[in-house]
Amino acid sequence: MLLLPQTSLLRALHTAVRDRNASGRDFEIYSRRIIRLLLETGLDLLPFEKREVTTPVGETYHGLEFPRRVCGVSVVRAGESMETELREMVPGIRIGKILIQRDKRTKQPELFYKHLPGDIHTDHVLLMEPMLATGGSALAALDVLREAGVPDENVVLINFLASPTGLERFSRAAPDVKVVTSAVEDGMNENAFMVPGIGDFGDRFFGTV
Ligand code: PRP
Ligand code: MG
Repeated sequence: MLLLPQTSLLRALHTAVRDRNASGRDFEIYSRRIIRLLLETGLDLLPFEKREVTTPVGETYHGLEFPRRVCGVSVVRAGESMETELREMVPGIRIGKILIQRDKRTKQPELFYKHLPGDIHTDHVLLMEPMLATGGSALAALDVLREAGVPDENVVLINFLASPTGLERFSRAAPDVKVVTSAVEDGMNENAFMVPGIGDFGDRFFGTV
């Protein structure tokens, strides 16, 4: 698991979004800044190839090229909050969708819909699921990728907030998937919501509270 450096900047962004009185606009602006950091960190875990360019002063710069075979897959609905940033960072990137909803009573994830790029098995996949509470939803989404032939080592889970239990469960079931997160919480309450937490990420981001 790769936890973003807990800098003052990141903690201030987290403070802004965790405030129950944050406006919808502030929630979106500040969470998107954290999402950008997560995605940049996740992209950096993919394999880069060597590339040389000639600089304006006529010299050679020995650099690297962004990985080409990469796509994003969002776990609808909360995961869709990460799509705009990803599309801005990697223009033209293909985005697959997996609709999973956690049953309010049983807390079990239910799969309703999936639509993935056809040749996803040869891609590196940034799997976007902001919340890892019990870890059930993220694992159910990973199962969909596995069924589509994506090897675990080609998956990077982009996660905003994780519980220790969820992280442990996920990494035990999928030790080869790299996980990038911005915060590890103290635990979960009786409704399987993380504490101190952020509430319902999807509801707050999309203004459906
Ligand atoms: C929430 C959240 C995660 C999931 C995390 O989704 O967005 O997907 O619960 O819980 P878990 O790790 O215990 O499975 P939810 O289905 O409530 O709604 P959403 O449509 O807002 O994503
Ligand atoms: Mg969800």
